[in-house]
Amino acid sequence: MKNLKPLMSSASVEWSTPQDFFDELNKEFKFNLDPCANRENAKCKLYYSSGGLEKSWNNFRVFCNPPYGSEISKWVKKGSEAMGGVVVMLIPARTDTRYFHEYIYGKAEIRFIKGRLKFGGSKNSAPFPSMLVIFKRNAKTLRTPTTLPRQKSR
Ligand SMILES: C[S@@+](CC[C@H](N)C(=O)[O-])C[C@H]1O[C@@H](n2cnc3c(N)ncnc32)[C@H](O)[C@@H]1O
Repeated sequence: MKNLKPLMSSASVEWSTPQDFFDELNKEFKFNLDPCANRENAKCKLYYSSGGLEKSWNNFRVFCNPPYGSEISKWVKKGSEAMGGVVVMLIPARTDTRYFHEYIYGKAEIRFIKGRLKFGGSKNSAPFPSMLVIFKRNAKTLRTPTTLPRQKSR
């Protein structure tokens, strides 16, 4: 599931998660669903390449790096409503947005990422900071956060 074709223009929605960053995070959460992906960039064996907002995320250990377009708030809302499992979202650290205050601030665990990620196998760092948002709504197993994963090189 390597990224075959990194797309890095700011107009693109294909901000694929750096594999080393995901691998570190996956050690902690053991994800079993990537609800927004395509065949090339899916991070879990089980993934949705369409209809990710409509299909159930309940009772999964979800890793979600959503499309960064105008619909991002719908993905964050969906993550905040998932029941019974854990949802970890990798999104731009935009604390001035309505969805940040409505669904995240004071309601989810937030891990701000030091430095900028290099998405999609790019040599260049992203032009925006990122954060991890962790929703555990009625989670059956609450896990203690360990260290924040970082990329090996910047
Ligand atoms: C930011 S990329 C993340 C890709 C991959 N999950 C990762 O972490 O590297 C967002 C992905 O969501 C996919 N996507 C867009 N709309 C979707 C939808 N409605 N349902 C499922 N996937 C969708 C896009 O094709 C894109 O591959």
